[in-house]
Amino acid sequence: MKTLVVGGAGYIGSVVTRLLLADGHEVVVLDNCSTGHADSIPEGVQHIQADITTSSEVLAGAGYDAVLHFAAKSLVGESVLEPSLYWHTNVLGSRALLDAITEHQVPRLVFSSTAAVYGEPETFPITEDSPTKPTSTYGATKLAVDMMITNECAASELAAVSLRYFNVAGAAWGAGERHTTETHLIPIALDAVAGRRDKLDIYGDDWPTPDGTPIRDYVHVEDLARAHVLALTAASPGEHLICNLGNGNGFSVREVIAEVERVTGLEMPTVTGPRRPGDPTRLVASAARAKERLGWEPQLDLGRMVADAWEFSNSPIAQHALHTQTP
Ligand code: UFG
Repeated sequence: MKTLVVGGAGYIGSVVTRLLLADGHEVVVLDNCSTGHADSIPEGVQHIQADITTSSEVLAGAGYDAVLHFAAKSLVGESVLEPSLYWHTNVLGSRALLDAITEHQVPRLVFSSTAAVYGEPETFPITEDSPTKPTSTYGATKLAVDMMITNECAASELAAVSLRYFNVAGAAWGAGERHTTETHLIPIALDAVAGRRDKLDIYGDDWPTPDGTPIRDYVHVEDLARAHVLALTAASPGEHLICNLGNGNGFSVREVIAEVERVTGLEMPTVTGPRRPGDPTRLVASAARAKERLGWEPQLDLGRMVADAWEFSNSPIAQHALHTQTP
């Protein structure tokens, strides 16, 4: 298929780009590099360095078979402090892209949605039918885009799949996480054991969980990438399919720290501080629908995520990114 990867210079988009190429698809990346890195795009792939709002010009007459849409602001904490930035970038950007998809009759869309749409769930595991009550602006904007896509599919022949990611980790095929402002547990923990940071702050150990730290469902970015390729052909025309992507297993912050120490053989300096605003206690996915509709099952465990992220974090390309402390 001829695919346009919007946000293909970012962490997940750049991994999916590699898999699409390996599977024989044609790939063009549209990314303004506001948070992504141009050198994350594999050589030979056309990079249109422009904003998502130019989508109509990009799609016009180009005969794309599918758009994969990763472009978004995605820091939960920042989203609560700067809601306007998130509504403009995530929702208005996606609106422009959807209008362009409709105008130029692109038949397929795969969208990066998130577990953040569920907020603080009351029952587990979380299914796609669980109530959507986002606790952050980030989650609200992603839910708004999911709803726009549902409406668009109902009114047209668009076949769309929203993939609701749980906690993505690891690296694959030479691409990985290198956010300028890093907020995620595993890359921060790896920097702490490597001495690139002085410590890891544990955001509260008084949560209602067995060891007092929050529980998350971690999924390897390589498994996640496979789901995107499967999603290209999973929906029928006029259908909006929504699938959770997680392992169905929860690990606490302390369990992740123990795994990082085991894999690296290094001791982690930690300090326990207050809870981070907006953090839910527990997020664990049911991926039953992804199995049924995409034929997808995750294969790589937490140890492999940590090992691959560790190898990537020590590679020259990762060292170019300036990791700053969490704001
Ligand atoms: N944590 C720490 N210290 C840190 C960083 C994180 O204790 O320095 C804890 C967090 O409090 C949380 C857990 O580690 O309990 C995981 O935090 P991450 O920041 O790695 O991931 P989140 O669960 O906050 O975020 C993920 C995705 C978001 C998505 C969200 C849904 O990255 O895109 O899940 O809640 F919106």
